[in-house]
Amino acid sequence: MDRVLSLITIFLVLVFSGKRSEGYSRNDFPKDFAFGSATSAYQWEGAAYEDGRKPSIWDTFAHSLGENNGDTACDGYHKYKEDVQLMVETGLNAFRFSISWSRLIPNGRGPINPKGLQFYKNFIHELVTHGIEPHVTLFHYDLPQSLEDEYGGWISRRIIKDFTAYADVCFREFGNKVKFWNTVNEANIFTIGGYNDGLTAPGRCSNNCLSGNSSTEPYIVAHNVLLAHASASRLYKKKYKDMQGGSVGFSIFGIGFSPSTNSKDDEISVQRARDFYFGWMLRPLIFGDYPDSMKQTVGSRLPVFTEEESQLVKGSADFVGLIHYLTSTVTNTKPKFSGFPDFNTDVGYDVAPWAMEGVLEYIKQSYGNPPLQLKDTPRIEFLDAYIGAILKAVRNGSDTRGYFVWSFMDLYELLTGYDASFGMYYVNFSDPQLKRSPKLSAQWYSAFLKGNNSTLQGIAKLQTNLSSSSSF
Ligand SMILES: *[C@@H]1O[C@H](CO)[C@@H](O)[C@H](O)[C@H]1NC(C)=O
Ligand SMILES: *[C@@H]1O[C@H](CO)[C@@H](O)[C@H](O)[C@H]1NC(C)=O
Ligand SMILES: *[C@@H]1O[C@H](CO)[C@@H](O)[C@H](O)[C@H]1NC(C)=O
Ligand SMILES: *[C@@H]1O[C@H](CO)[C@@H](O)[C@H](O)[C@H]1NC(C)=O
Ligand SMILES: *[C@@H]1O[C@H](CO)[C@@H](O)[C@H](O)[C@H]1NC(C)=O
Ligand SMILES: *[C@@H]1O[C@H](CO)[C@@H](O)[C@H](O)[C@H]1NC(C)=O
Repeated sequence: MDRVLSLITIFLVLVFSGKRSEGYSRNDFPKDFAFGSATSAYQWEGAAYEDGRKPSIWDTFAHSLGENNGDTACDGYHKYKEDVQLMVETGLNAFRFSISWSRLIPNGRGPINPKGLQFYKNFIHELVTHGIEPHVTLFHYDLPQSLEDEYGGWISRRIIKDFTAYADVCFREFGNKVKFWNTVNEANIFTIGGYNDGLTAPGRCSNNCLSGNSSTEPYIVAHNVLLAHASASRLYKKKYKDMQGGSVGFSIFGIGFSPSTNSKDDEISVQRARDFYFGWMLRPLIFGDYPDSMKQTVGSRLPVFTEEESQLVKGSADFVGLIHYLTSTVTNTKPKFSGFPDFNTDVGYDVAPWAMEGVLEYIKQSYGNPPLQLKDTPRIEFLDAYIGAILKAVRNGSDTRGYFVWSFMDLYELLTGYDASFGMYYVNFSDPQLKRSPKLSAQWYSAFLKGNNSTLQGIAKLQTNLSSSSSF
C-alpha cells in the first residue's frame, strides 16, 4: 500500500512541480505518431448472448466468480455509433479494440457467424469514415470456450492451427480497412494470470484452482502463444501484406523495474526480472530463443524451439505493443516457496509495484529498438507525465509510434469488475441507458490533441486547487 501511495505522489509531484508549464504539445511529436484510446471486446461489447455469439473462457470465468460479468458491459455492440461520435469529439487519431473470436466464429473454428461479421464490418466502417484508424487485437483473454473444452485451448498445440484460421478470416474480411493488427494482448500477463496464479481466465494453477500446473503450464502456453502469433504473422506476410500493406504486432505488459539499492545483487535481480517478464516473449520474437537465465532456471519445464520454430518466431512481430501501468522496485529477497516451483519462484525475487522512460530505453538498447505502441491508465497526472516521458524517450531515439490511453470509457475490468474506473468517459452502470459523460481526463486529452492551451491551463489550475485543498 505504501508503495502505491508513493507512486501516486511521485506522479503528482511531477505535475505540480510545473512539468506542464515546461510545456510540450501535440506538435512536438512526429506527425504520424498515433494518439488513441482503447477498449476490448468482452469489456465493452456486452450482447454476450445475442446474434449467435457463444461464450469465451472469460464469460465462463466471470460467471464462476459470481459477482458481476461482461454480459452487458458498456453495450458497445449496440452503442458503437454513439461511441465513435465521442471519439471524434475527443479528437482521437486511432482506436484500439479487440474482436470477440466467439462472436465471429462461435465454436472457435468452422462456420462464421454472419451477424458477428456484420457487426465488426459496421464498426470498422464507422471508425474509418470518421477518420479514426482502427488497431485490431485478435486475442484479448477471450478464447472460445468450445476450444477450451475440446482440447484445453492454449495448452494444446492444436490452438496454433485454429488461431491461424481465425486470423485468416479477420485479415480477409477486415484487412482492406485495418492496417494495424495485434495478435495477442498482454501475452505475458494472460499466461501468468491464467496459468500460474489462476486469477484470470481460464483460472488454472497448482494451488487453490480446480486444475492446472503452475510449474509447467505458463511456459507451455507462452510457447504456443508465440507459435500461434508467428504462424498468423507469416500467413499475413504470405497472403495479404502485398495487397493490404498492414503490419502485425504482438503486445506485452511492461513493468518498469528498478533496483531498490545500488547493490550488485539488486542490479542482477532487475535484469533477471526483465528477462522473465519481457525477455520471455521479446527474445524469441527478436532473436529466436528464450533468455539464457530462463533456460538455466526453468530447465526441462521450458519448451525448446526447434530450428524451424525459432526461424518462424524470429522477426515475426512488426511492432511490439507495450502496455504499461506499473512500476516496480526489485529487491534481492526470495519469494515464499510453497513446495513446487512456479513462475514467481522461478523469477526468484520479490517484485513490488514505479517508469515508462526507463522501460522504453531498456527495450531500445536491448532489443534493437522495435517499433512500439503504448496504452495505459487515464488519470491526467499519469497522462501528462507519461506523454512527457514518451516524448523524452522519442527524442532520445526510441522508435515509439503511438500511444493509446487505457481505457476510452469505464469498462468491465479483469480483476475488479465495474468498481475500478479507468475510463476517460464515465459510464453510469446503474442507468439502463448506460449514459457516458466525459471526465476531466477526456477534456485534458482532447485539449492536448487539439492544441487548446487555454483549456489545458484551466485544467492545470483546477488540479492545483484540488490538490492544495486535499491532504495527500
Ligand atoms: C501551446 O503551447 C505549446 C507548448 O507550450 C506551444 O508550442 C504552442 O505554440 C501553444 N499554442 C498556442 C496556440 O498558443
Ligand atoms: C506438474 O507437471 C510436472 C511435469 O509433468 C509434474 O512433475 C508435477 O508433479 C506437476 N505438478 C503438479 C502440482 O501437478
Ligand atoms: C539516450 O540514448 C543513449 C544512447 O542509446 C543512452 O546511452 C542514454 O542512456 C539515453 N538517455 C536516457 C535518459 O535514457
Ligand atoms: C446514474 O443513473 C441513475 C439511474 O438513471 C441515476 O439515478 C443516477 O443519478 C445516475 N448517477 C450519476 C452519477 O449520474
Ligand atoms: C478551447 O477550449 C475552450 C473552452 O474549453 C473553447 O471555448 C475554445 O473554443 C477552444 N479553442 C479552440 C481553438 O478549440
Ligand atoms: C483556484 O483557486 C483560486 C484561489 O482560491 C481561485 O481564485 C481560482 O478561481 C481557482 N481556479 C479554479 C480553476 O478553480
